Amino acid sequence: MKPTVAPFPTARLRRLRRTPALRALVRETTLAPSDFIWPLFVTDGVDAEEPIPSMPGVSRLTVDRVARAAKQAEALGIPAICIFPYTPQSARTADCAMAWDPDNIANRAIRAAKEAAPGVAVMTDIALDPYNIDGQDGFVEDGHIVNDRTVEALVKMALVQAECGADMLGPSDMMDGRIGAIRAALEEAGHQDVAILSYTAKYASAFYGPFRDAVGASGALKGDKTTYQMDPGNSDEALRLVQRDLAEGADMIMVKPGMAYLDICRRVKDAFGVPLFAYQVSGEYAMLTAAAQNGWLDREKVMLESLTAFKRAGCDGILTYFAPEAAELLGG
Ligand code: PBG
Repeated sequence: MKPTVAPFPTARLRRLRRTPALRALVRETTLAPSDFIWPLFVTDGVDAEEPIPSMPGVSRLTVDRVARAAKQAEALGIPAICIFPYTPQSARTADCAMAWDPDNIANRAIRAAKEAAPGVAVMTDIALDPYNIDGQDGFVEDGHIVNDRTVEALVKMALVQAECGADMLGPSDMMDGRIGAIRAALEEAGHQDVAILSYTAKYASAFYGPFRDAVGASGALKGDKTTYQMDPGNSDEALRLVQRDLAEGADMIMVKPGMAYLDICRRVKDAFGVPLFAYQVSGEYAMLTAAAQNGWLDREKVMLESLTAFKRAGCDGILTYFAPEAAELLGG
């Protein structure tokens, strides 16, 4: 599309910026509570929560409180929540068996949320890092992350999560072939209506630091994730990954992190036109929150501005820790 260029003074672009009414009328991108997926951290215990120091304002919730948060999401008009379990180092094992235990806290939280607020979609995370003694997303053999054995474990996780009532599965592990394997297993088990929101373009990012505190993985993590998560220098590779994940059966695509990867969002949306989400990750939340706590930024304004940027870049929705606050500000 070629913009029409009219000469000054015929074109005074400030005319339409003059009043709030005119600005509202020509605004190209708007935000609504229905744009958000709210990530929640779940931990063991009853009717309690533990603040996460590197994410001020965010806490780990016990299962009963996740159910309460699901109801809150419903009241605010937030269509979906996403569940992440906290696992202490003492409960982590090399075989990651807890990952597909139907009674692990993540799976209990899925059931509790669906029971409390059936209309709210529940998304899960599929990766071994919350359960792995090495903090890695895949099994480690001789210091290497092994792909195919990991995919078999991810499939087991996926089936149990679907059985517990999850609406959208979120493989965040970046192993090759996991989308196809999970999709085939879901079909075979009669879960053909369970959606896959693939963490397709997930970068090896330093912005995940606070999240790893939140799920208890920081101390556990040996090495880094650069042999499976994407190199921050790459962009064409993201398109190859999207093409592959769609071909393997993904319904929705995610780019992660968010603010530093808006160019990737735009390219994916333009090239494929499929449902696209960005994850405004823990480090982005921590960064904006810390600056606001220091009085250096206006919290509400940067929150809404950053979330609007995702929509403008082509995203249909955003996973964000700001979800309840932003929804409230937007009148949810
Ligand atoms: C783990 C996972 C991570 C996040 C979501 N799922 C961390 C990682 O890959 O190390 C990060 C989310 C955030 O930082 O908010 N598979």
